[in-house]
Amino acid sequence: MHPITQELEQLQKDFSQEAQDIADMQAFDALRIKYMSKKGLVAEKFKVMATLSGEERPIIGKHLNQMKAFVQNRLDELRTSLSDAGEKSAKIDLTLPGNRPVIGRMHPLMKVLEEIKTIFREMGFSIETGPEVETDFYNFEALNIPADHPSRDMQDSFYLPGERVLRTHTSPVQIRTMQKVQPPVRMIAPGRCFRRDTPDATHSPMFQQIEGLVVDEGVSMADLKGVLLAAMRKLLGEHIQIRFRPSFFPFTEPSAEYDITCSSCFGSGCRVCKQTGWLEISGAGMVDPAVFGFVDYDAEKYTGYAFGMGLERIAMIKYNIDDLRIFYENDVRFLTQF
Ligand code: PHE
Repeated sequence: MHPITQELEQLQKDFSQEAQDIADMQAFDALRIKYMSKKGLVAEKFKVMATLSGEERPIIGKHLNQMKAFVQNRLDELRTSLSDAGEKSAKIDLTLPGNRPVIGRMHPLMKVLEEIKTIFREMGFSIETGPEVETDFYNFEALNIPADHPSRDMQDSFYLPGERVLRTHTSPVQIRTMQKVQPPVRMIAPGRCFRRDTPDATHSPMFQQIEGLVVDEGVSMADLKGVLLAAMRKLLGEHIQIRFRPSFFPFTEPSAEYDITCSSCFGSGCRVCKQTGWLEISGAGMVDPAVFGFVDYDAEKYTGYAFGMGLERIAMIKYNIDDLRIFYENDVRFLTQF
């Protein structure tokens, strides 16, 4: 056996050994140059050809070519695996910030509502609900709203077939609750209401109210004002004042509309409050004894107060928003601000 055969075997072994430790492109290039350059170890071995006899030549030549192919194949493999690893590590950059899933958030109206519910819960109020599709009895009649009252007019209410109506206020929940429980009653009832209003900055055909009702022995108008003031101060700040103006509702007597200090100008007068320093919230008053008649409460024994609150109005005040339509447009740029 020609000594070159052994040399070639040794070279392959050495090369394989060295190739194992290659970890980056720089080391790879050094290895490639060492073995495969013009003056490298592989080319070096080919020099033996000149010394061979005609018999040996084809045999040794074949060995040389096999050895060269072996080195070349291994180098190709190595190059591929190194560049793959390079690409992978370029794809995964652990220092980049992760992709956060987009998390939804509570609608501003629901946020304010939750706060209001908490405030009243803390004062011992229960939370009641009623249907949005009401009967004439609950929405009007039991609230002492006579058949010829303007709020029954087709202009204001959405009527449905079968003597049904989309409730125009949350006051029917007063009646439903009083039918269910005996005094003392201390409840709020949030919910959607519907009126045939043309939408503008402060009106929407669908809006939300929070009804309040307290019935017990010896309940007075002073209690009403105290509770409203405490709730509004807790919600909007200690500077808030409440102003009652005489008004009329068929289901309360006496009746009032109430305003709170303008949160934009703190009462000094601005565009939001039309220079009055006050913002209108809703109506309130002492429960009319006639209403007690519809639910079989003893009007001699019990007195009560009731109030409404416009949820959108309160949210507009709290967040300084000048058009309530934006609450119902579902514009994410608006909603993500809360
Ligand atoms: N229900 C009345 C309205 O929608 C508001 C109100 C509620 C007034 C309770 C007095 C007592 O305008």
